[in-house]
Amino acid sequence: MSTRIDHITGGIYRISTWVPEYRLTFNQFLIDDERPTLVHTGEYDRYDGIRKAISEVLDPATLANIILLHWEGDENGGMDRFMAEAKGCELVGSALSIALNARGFGVHERVRGFTDGETLDLGRHKLRFWETPHVHHWDSMMVVEETTNSLFPSDLYLQPGELPPVVDENLSEEMIATYRAVGIFAHENPVRSVSERVERLAPDWVHAMHGGTVTGAALPAFNEALREKEFAYAGWVLGRDLAAQQATPIPHAG
Ligand SMILES: [Fe+2]
Ligand SMILES: [Fe+2]
Repeated sequence: MSTRIDHITGGIYRISTWVPEYRLTFNQFLIDDERPTLVHTGEYDRYDGIRKAISEVLDPATLANIILLHWEGDENGGMDRFMAEAKGCELVGSALSIALNARGFGVHERVRGFTDGETLDLGRHKLRFWETPHVHHWDSMMVVEETTNSLFPSDLYLQPGELPPVVDENLSEEMIATYRAVGIFAHENPVRSVSERVERLAPDWVHAMHGGTVTGAALPAFNEALREKEFAYAGWVLGRDLAAQQATPIPHAG
């Protein structure tokens, strides 16, 4: 399994690993600045490949921030390993995620929670945080990078398949089909209100965690699909028909 790194725009790099088992790429984003920042660490076991990709651009020991957009293995499973090397690095998440998850798992030092609208300066880049509860998880957030007019939406706007760094085509049907099969959203409503906020922002770049970075020109088709199609959990979990399984009669002994 190989991991590649590609420059997308204005010092933002996509690090990407194709995982055939899930038919998805797993992406992290590196922002090269005075305070280098990694958005998502990738899973614990993918550390070596991701670290190597980062080191093509900068020294991983200089990372100043690791940003997790919700508490989950592919978001921050590698945090311990990166933070052990980067002694000045802080773990950044939503206020909720830091209060409940980081502290609850015993991570008390070098952690920082943000609420909606708060900002973080990296030098040339400036991040603005959006709290987006229940867009996949209770603690979910998204990040806007203001100088490139970029959005880091985590699992929203994902596209399946081994895709190039930048996606300029309408893959919204594939996105919706993946959401239905995998079951990551409990309800459409929180997702739709965030997608309306994204439409008002009109980002030039949407750095999806799975797939390619969606351009501003391609984005309206994705928002239209989120507005008009059903994609909330309907019994399927990671491609398994759990509802059908649970509908079968329960065998009783004797
Ligand atoms: Fe996720
Ligand atoms: Fe993800």
